[in-house]
Formats: sequence, C-alpha cells, structure tokens
Amino acid sequence: MSDYRTVCRTSDVPEGEARMVQLDDHRLAVIHLGGQFYVLDDQCPHAGASLARGYLQAGHVTCRIHHWRFCLSDGHNLDQPGPPRDATAHAVRVVGDLVQVQLDG
Ligand code: FES
Repeated sequence: MSDYRTVCRTSDVPEGEARMVQLDDHRLAVIHLGGQFYVLDDQCPHAGASLARGYLQAGHVTCRIHHWRFCLSDGHNLDQPGPPRDATAHAVRVVGDLVQVQLDG
C-alpha cells in the first residue's frame, strides 16, 4: 500500500469540472463533482481516450469517444461490466486545500 501523494490544490479543479494531471508516469483525471474529488487513470480502457475530457454526470463520467460510462467511485464500467473494461480508480483524500491520491504499485 503506497502513501498518499498530492496531485493538485482543490482550487485547481472547479466544481463540475475535471483536469488531467501528470504524476510521474501516471496520467490522472482529477474530477470534482458534487463536492467530492475523484481520481481515475486518464485513459479509457476501451481505446485510451482521456476521461478528464469526458462528460460528467451524477456519479459517473462518460467517455466522449464511444460513450462508455464509468463509476467515479470505483471505475467500474456501467455499460459493459468486467475488469478489462473497467477504468482504474484511486483512493482520494483532501487535506486542507490539497487533493491527494493513493497510487497502487
Ligand atoms: S475510447 Fe472510451 S469508450 Fe471508446
């Protein structure tokens, strides 16, 4: 289990928006929706599109290319469930004004 690492400040991602953040070799989608922050790998498992550029709706993000939908909390695919088709979600916490993520491995 790895430590939490800071990805951005809360003010960097306004409510209802998402940002791509590079952290070492990880390209992450930081999403702020409904007062919560979520972090997914910024790579759709279908064909690699940016999920930070997806459409945000209550509890999920829709990939803008072929419209697969992913749960913001755990990354599971709402349309075609199954590990190869799920997005990768990471544990997130907010400490003060810092958004921090726990990357596995
Ligand atoms: S690239 Fe995301 S659904 Fe196809």
